Amino acid sequence: MTVEYRFPEGFWWGSATSATQIEGAAFEGGKGWNIWDYWYSREPDRFFEGVGPETTSDFYHQYKEDIRRMKETGHNTFRFSISWSRLIPDGDGAVNEEAATFYTSVIDELLDQGIEPFVNLFHFDMPMEMQKIGGWENRYVTDAYTVFAEECFRRFGDRVSKWFTFNEPIVPVEGGYLYDFHYPNVVDFKRAAQVAYHTIIAHAKAVQVFRSFSIPKGKIGIILNLTPSYPRSSNPADLRASRIADLFFNRSFLDPTVKGEFPQELLEILEEHGQLPETKEGDSSLILANTADILGVNYYQPRRVKAKEHLPNPYGPFMMDWFFDMYEMPGRKMNPYRGWEIYEKGIYDIMINLKENYGNIESFVSENGMGVQNEERFMENGQIQDDYRIDFIKGHLKWLHQAIQEGCNAKGYHLWSFMDNWSWMNAYKNRYGFFAVDLETKERTAKKSAGWFRETAERNGF
Ligand code: NOJ
Repeated sequence: MTVEYRFPEGFWWGSATSATQIEGAAFEGGKGWNIWDYWYSREPDRFFEGVGPETTSDFYHQYKEDIRRMKETGHNTFRFSISWSRLIPDGDGAVNEEAATFYTSVIDELLDQGIEPFVNLFHFDMPMEMQKIGGWENRYVTDAYTVFAEECFRRFGDRVSKWFTFNEPIVPVEGGYLYDFHYPNVVDFKRAAQVAYHTIIAHAKAVQVFRSFSIPKGKIGIILNLTPSYPRSSNPADLRASRIADLFFNRSFLDPTVKGEFPQELLEILEEHGQLPETKEGDSSLILANTADILGVNYYQPRRVKAKEHLPNPYGPFMMDWFFDMYEMPGRKMNPYRGWEIYEKGIYDIMINLKENYGNIESFVSENGMGVQNEERFMENGQIQDDYRIDFIKGHLKWLHQAIQEGCNAKGYHLWSFMDNWSWMNAYKNRYGFFAVDLETKERTAKKSAGWFRETAERNGF
């Protein structure tokens, strides 16, 4: 079979997950509560079909078999996160040795199978004890997080060389402090800005500590959800709307973590509206000195915007969408099984932007994937025939290939996700995995895409 799109040698093929979404064992093995355990215990009805974070694919007990399946699915890399409240149940203080043994064993098992672990340190899962003292609003939590990060580097750094401080750090800001889909369900832009700012400080502190260890070939970075912001038209008002959306949703994290500074225009807007967070002397140099070595790009769909048509409610809270409206482009291609736009070229636009404006930082697609509701309907002869997912992956890989041809420093592709998993408030509504999971028996069944991915990884292209 001919390979039309061949990727550079050593390309990273794999998938991504996070602790809360796959481990299960929420109250086992000495794990402390995180905000998800707590919020679910308070308001189970806010979660799709009332399913909470203790109902997952049970990776905690089945990781050995899962890692074997990864090998059979062509993985040479795999991303997971270390649960802060599993390793340090109170967020700061004593380490839970049972957790350390678990993560050691996951890492060893991956290495035995020839799969490189990519480890992320924070994936939406603030320990409850830390949230009780204000979570990221409290600067002390950035110190506690740095101690957690240091503990991870010390214990696992001899076997893990790819580290990430945060996954999609803007999401807990939006969810927890603006749009009510994460705990603590606050709606207050000023507090959101403080949370975002402290997250960036926490990133910089963790990078600083990382560099004090000499981890062989060690690289540390961050994983951002970048959503290219496309204007409805080239008229100046639409262009301004899309530029501001880009400032808020992409550059707010991309610029400080990759370039070491905040975009001036964003600071001006915040200042004009009295929304600047509190800072400390020395912060600017801390941020500048501790930028990322590597960037993970999570990409699902673009953001299409147009100039604001109605003035914002002056009595409502300050919000980023004071500056633009969303725009539904006629004829755009949609995922019919989940309702998100599919725009494959977005991945190319992101990579070209990184090349041209962000020093061509080493990067990879750290998440991309297709959520599907009621996916059992595509079951034939005991296997989900997810040709739509294969097409989706191919479409994005073609544009990634093109970007690489044009000199972009993109090193790999991770699908979200290895197996169907618990997706926060949506619980199991949208299925994303190469493997379907029966939530009663926890049995995994490979979907058609798993076989296709294996062949693609083996040939290093398609
Ligand atoms: C991004 C997040 O990192 C992950 O936690 C989530 O489940 C997927 N997107 C799918 O929505």
